[in-house]
Amino acid sequence: MSNPLATQIADLKLSNPTMLAAGVLGYTGLSMKRVIESGAGAVVTKSMGLEPRTGYCNPTVVQTDCGLLNAMGLPNPGISHFKEEMQELNKLEAPTIFSIYGFSPEDFAEVAKIAVEIGAAAVELNVSCPHVKKVGAQVGSDPSLLMEIVKRVQNQIDKPVIVKLTPNVTDITEIAQAAQKAGADAICAINTVKAMAIDPETCKPILANKYGGLSGPAIKPVGVRCVYDIYDAVDIPIIGCGGISNWQDAVEYLLAGACALQIGTAIAFQDITVFKSVTDGITNYLEHKGFNNIKDIIGLAHEM
Ligand SMILES: Cc1cc2nc3c(=O)[nH]c(=O)nc-3n(C[C@H](O)[C@H](O)[C@H](O)COP(=O)(O)O)c2cc1C
Repeated sequence: MSNPLATQIADLKLSNPTMLAAGVLGYTGLSMKRVIESGAGAVVTKSMGLEPRTGYCNPTVVQTDCGLLNAMGLPNPGISHFKEEMQELNKLEAPTIFSIYGFSPEDFAEVAKIAVEIGAAAVELNVSCPHVKKVGAQVGSDPSLLMEIVKRVQNQIDKPVIVKLTPNVTDITEIAQAAQKAGADAICAINTVKAMAIDPETCKPILANKYGGLSGPAIKPVGVRCVYDIYDAVDIPIIGCGGISNWQDAVEYLLAGACALQIGTAIAFQDITVFKSVTDGITNYLEHKGFNNIKDIIGLAHEM
């Protein structure tokens, strides 16, 4: 019998649609191995660049009453360091996707090349980080720069290229279309929403960087809207991300048009069992509603 949860992003086959989102537990091979063993269909690494980066001073994370606010500053050991970590992951069934960033299109292409050499099944371009200047959202708000990056990466590697978009733009569909035009294999929507928190006691912004990115339940309706809009604008697969905490959230994203789902903040508020509870919930939902597999519900909310 075929697996009702099986899904695909370009030629990347997943046994279920759930994936670890970039930046949450994606620093080591062992932590990602645990996530796969807990039921995730794929894992995405912390975003990595060519050189090591320390990131910002603390405080880098603030808990709000509706999610997390973070400005880590992309701390990472540099892409080459990750070769050793991959030894934990190479034997496992679920693919490892490398989240990468660069300070120029050439940088992105170079990091992508190294990522594939050390075992990436696909790369996810972080052009959406809301708090590091010259990389991230600044790039992901500029369609022509984004196109150049995607083209360069595509020319460099023969693995799927996923473009992770920022919601902090006027029209996310314009950026998604630019990514598709340049040859992206899939879109991931969304990264965090630019936000801040101020401490009434000190009268100052709490994060050392002042601004950060909001994740978790507060941003789910924004993510669902973005996926819904992008689904009408492009023909490539969409990975939904933002505020998924349970199977109902996951189904909402599938109905909006996502064919896979990334989970980040819910791991901090619950634990890594969230992958199994989400996939079990989707399976029960499909059975209960009489659907054969998740393909039957992807984008169903568009059929009015
Ligand atoms: C602490 C933290 C670190 C993150 N680091 C990255 C990162 O390195 N690269 C990236 O593309 N997204 C990063 N993100 C964003 C997540 O991958 C995800 O897009 C966002 O948190 C929304 O999903 P969620 O609500 O399920 O967490 C980070 C999020 C958090 C909370």
